This record gives sequence, structure tokens and C-alpha cells, in this order.
Amino acid sequence: MQENVSLRHFNTFGLESRAQFFEEAESTAALADIIKNPLWKEIPKFILGGGSNILFTQDIDALVIKIAIKGIELIKEDQDFVWLHAGAGEKWHDFVMYCVEHGYAGVENLSLIPGTIGAAPMQNIGAYGVEIKDVVETVEAISMETAEMKTFSKEECLFGYRESIFKHALKGKLVITGVVFRLNKKPVYHVEYGDIQKTLAEMNVETPSIKAISEAVIRIRESKLPDPAEIGNAGSFFKNPEIPIEQFDKLRLDFPTVPGYPTITGFVKVPAGWLIEQAGWKGYREGDIGVHARQALVLVNYGGGSGAQIKALSEKIQKSVKEKYGIDLSAEVNFV
Ligand code: EPU
Repeated sequence: MQENVSLRHFNTFGLESRAQFFEEAESTAALADIIKNPLWKEIPKFILGGGSNILFTQDIDALVIKIAIKGIELIKEDQDFVWLHAGAGEKWHDFVMYCVEHGYAGVENLSLIPGTIGAAPMQNIGAYGVEIKDVVETVEAISMETAEMKTFSKEECLFGYRESIFKHALKGKLVITGVVFRLNKKPVYHVEYGDIQKTLAEMNVETPSIKAISEAVIRIRESKLPDPAEIGNAGSFFKNPEIPIEQFDKLRLDFPTVPGYPTITGFVKVPAGWLIEQAGWKGYREGDIGVHARQALVLVNYGGGSGAQIKALSEKIQKSVKEKYGIDLSAEVNFV
């Protein structure tokens, strides 16, 4: 166990925060040993995945455990599908690349999403018409209290838009150690999203393939979203709000160009990026923090910004969006 460790390189915002204690768990067995240690019950703990959806606003006076359980294995296959097991500490994008290279379809639209396998089910990561709930078979986790292993079926995960049981009822109770995915050997492509069609056309792709879609998604993301290795960020900072149809119709009277996408639950999803841009925030900069110039939904740290400053900016944005449109924005990133 290390003491007083900087977490700057363990969060994609690049924010300084110090862990009182720090330990990496490279296997489920090692994690079980840590949990069974009598000292475990005495100290507060904090589980860290890829750090790509976290805003550190203070030091962490706890034992920070970095999940570093690796490995991708084929565990079963039939004519139509393969089942792959991936360790929670694998990088999400490395797993996507493994699938693309082997011709396994289902996650190509989720190329280049930062973070780890273990963090992906927490918020049911999604992009360009696909969410991981579409390909998850089971999620494996260990109890932080008893070190017992539990396997969750996809239904038990209660996946929703950027939601799961792990963020709510089971928050702080479990550590995800691995995920089993079911991928298609006979691809079903999701190219409905306008940006994907446009980019495939630019690439002169007439018949989509797993690789071409992955490349298109990478191009789109690289053109809009800042690379955390260059500019600190955590992807979308807010969720896209879902409002009742009547509220959307009223909003459209005042703002005729507001985009909206009906959801299956009878609401309308409004792009938060549009609301924030139209409220004048796109490209806004305040010292070392700001709103990304190419995607208003992304808050950025140019280097020396603090979590508290980013939090304050996010509150100003929420207030201005509320005043202008009467809509509450809720954060997608987790504040710590
Ligand atoms: N828009 C603007 N201005 C902006 C940004 C967006 O007007 O600065 C409007 C445009 O109308 C655009 C629409 O918003 O057509 C949608 O924008 P975009 O395609 O960039 O997607 P998003 O709704 O902003 C969501 C996810 C992203 C995901 C993309 C693609 C959420 C909170 N975010 O963003 O996920 O990559 O769709 O599917 O749902 C993430 O969660 O970290 C993330 C990056």
C-alpha cells in the first residue's frame, strides 16, 4: 500500500487530488484478500476505474483502490455469437479494438470512449445509437463487505440512459470485477445517426463494415471531443435532459430551432450541448478552465484548473440554462 499518492494521472480531467492510501488490485483474488483484511472495515475506501467520469473537488482521505484486473477471453461461441469475458481493468477502447480486429460486432459504435470495462456498466455508456446494455450478458462483482462474488444478469443491472443499479441501490456496496459480452458474428449495423452516415460517405464507404463504422466513430469523436491526453475533460459533463412533450412544444414556440428526439418513454430528449451553446457558453474560458469550443457539453481543464472551479462553472451553466429555458441540467460526471 502506498501513502499520499497524487491522482492527477488517474483522472482524465487531470485534476490534482491526493489519496491518503493507494493500492492497485490486479486480480479478483487480490481484491478479495484486501477486503478480507481486518483493517478493511476500519478505513474509508474509494474505488477507482479509469477516472474518466470523475470530478475531484478535494483530496481523498481514504484507501483508493485502482482496479487493474486484466484479460480478454473467449468463453463460448455458437454459429451466431461469441461470448467474451473482459477484466474490469481493461481499457474500454482496447476491448473495442479487440472486437473490431476479430470481426465481432456490437461495440464498434462505442469506439474511443475513455474509461475501463468495469466502469462502463455503471453508467451504461452509449454513443451513436448503441449502449452497452445492448451487448452485456452478465456483470460480475465482488461484495465490499463479504468478498463474495455475485453475477448480475443484464436485467438485474436495471440499465437506463446513463443509469444502472450500480449507481443507485448498490452504490458503494460492490466492485465490478469483470463483464461478459455477447457479440455478433453476423453484424447488425447501427448507422442511423446522421454524423455516421455523413462520415462514411466522406470515407467513400458504400457498404458498412465493423471496421469502417469504428473508423467513422473515431473520426467524429476526434473532430468534436478533446483528447484528454491534451486537454483535461470527462466527455459530456451533463446528461441530455428528457422533458415532457408539452414542455417541449412550448419551448419550441420561443426557440423554433431547438432540436428534440422523442424517447420510447414518451419524453423528448433535448441536446444539452445545444442549450448550453445557445445560452452563449460554447468556447467560454475562465483562466484554466472552460467550455470546449467544438462541443458545448464538454467542460475542460487547460492544465492548472481545479475541481472546485469546474464545479462552480457547471453551476453557473445550470443556472443560466434554467433561467433561459426552464430546464434543469443534471451532471453526468460524479463529483467527489
Ligand atoms: N449540439 C449543439 N452544440 C454543441 C453540441 C451539440 O448545438 O456544442 C447539438 C446539435 O444539435 C447536435 C446535437 O446537439 O446535433 C447532438 O450532439 P452530439 O451528436 O455531439 O451528441 P450529444 O447529445 O452532445 C451524446 C452523448 C455522447 C455521445 C454522443 C453521440 C450524452 C450526455 N452524451 O452527446 O456521450 O458520444 O451523444 O452519440 O448523452 C459522454 O457521455 O461522455 C459522451 C461523449
